[in-house]
Amino acid sequence: MTQREHFGSRAAVIMAMAGSAIGLGNIWRFPFIVGEYGGAAFILVYIICCFLLSLPIMLSETIIGRRTHQGTFGAMNALAPGTAWKWLGLLTVLSPLIILSYYSVVGGWSFAFLCKALALQFQPDNAESVTAMFGTFSSSTWWPLVCMMVFLFLTALIVYFGVNKGIERFSKVSIPVLFVLIVIIAIYSMTLPGAGEGVRYLVKPDFSKLTPDAYAAALGQSFFSLSLGVGTMLTYASYVRKDENILLSGTGTAFFDLLFAILAGFAVMPAVFAAGITPSSGPGLVFETLPFIFAKMGAGAQVISAVVSILFFLTILVAALSSSISMMEVGVAYLVEEKKQSRHNATIILFLITLVVGILCSLSFGVLSDVKLLGNTIFNFCDRLASNFLMTIGALLFSVFVGWKMDKAAVKDELTNGGKIKSSGKLFPIVYFLIKYVAPVTIAAIFIIGLLG
Ligand code: PHE
Repeated sequence: MTQREHFGSRAAVIMAMAGSAIGLGNIWRFPFIVGEYGGAAFILVYIICCFLLSLPIMLSETIIGRRTHQGTFGAMNALAPGTAWKWLGLLTVLSPLIILSYYSVVGGWSFAFLCKALALQFQPDNAESVTAMFGTFSSSTWWPLVCMMVFLFLTALIVYFGVNKGIERFSKVSIPVLFVLIVIIAIYSMTLPGAGEGVRYLVKPDFSKLTPDAYAAALGQSFFSLSLGVGTMLTYASYVRKDENILLSGTGTAFFDLLFAILAGFAVMPAVFAAGITPSSGPGLVFETLPFIFAKMGAGAQVISAVVSILFFLTILVAALSSSISMMEVGVAYLVEEKKQSRHNATIILFLITLVVGILCSLSFGVLSDVKLLGNTIFNFCDRLASNFLMTIGALLFSVFVGWKMDKAAVKDELTNGGKIKSSGKLFPIVYFLIKYVAPVTIAAIFIIGLLG
């Protein structure tokens, strides 16, 4: 049997996990959700959610993954052989593939808009038509499909090279680069005339907009952003060596992800205000509003505006890729370990499956827009299914598994590396309490209230 791969260093572990976490969720979703629920007040709730509810889930997944050194299905079978927990293993092999299918559509859009930026299509004299560009593009048939295919192909290519030569190498370069890029874009955005209003929006809380919905949205967003409940963190953790400090890498990942989301907020919102647009303009924010802003701002400083637009869509594309590879890796680990496929075959099989579902998701913006599943287009159905149900159920079950099914001594052993990490030992009672009680009870409550509401 071939030796299982491991991430080469602590930096590699954090970069890969942060790579999975930092993605479209941070740049594309976070700013518009913040816009919808009242700026700084929502960010506050979001931060609390991240550390009190999502971090315990992340730790639950890493504990299971690192303990067994197996993918989701194998891990569940190893820790609870012959029980119904294997269904959680199977569910979490499937759910990242559903996410990957519609995620690739948006990944494809980022690629397309990077090409548009490179072709200098966002010009001051066509600022108004730039806003319409996205609608026309996404509802057309061929270009979005081609771009999605390119995105999926790049994903498969990185995954094909394996954990060290593919995932680790890509994340180690992309994550630092992403941070540099987002800081440059945020500086540009904050120096635009009229941007002050946007900055104020992000730092001055408006508690009146914190409806009960906002809490569910914060929780859902933090699961999505930290890639939780779908086995990605579990699978990555299965490549972590026994002597790594998983409490530290989990907390580090959550911290970097949050930092990046906030920086993305500062990159997007001030520009939105500078252009005089209301912040809650939905998912189109990044693909409609931002190109409009680049075009409009180009009037005075064409070169700077063109460069920033290229950097912006490059950032989205790279961030999306570092996440999509983690989704595909879950399925690859399953096919390689459980079905004894070669990595090469596993990657091709998953590429083809996601391509088929991805094509349907992409066409649901155009020719298939009338096909409705429970009242949703195919794309929205996959998104809702994954982020409202699969992620929450997965997250809940992972914490229940670690808190209630696994032996407490084993959990402590894993978190403290057999008692060697003293600081983790001291924090263990708090972490265990969060995993066993706080996370499952709160998540279940928010989930049920959401279902009833
Ligand atoms: N965390 C990623 C993002 O923010 C999305 C993701 C979800 C990645 C689930 C892996 C698994 O874009």
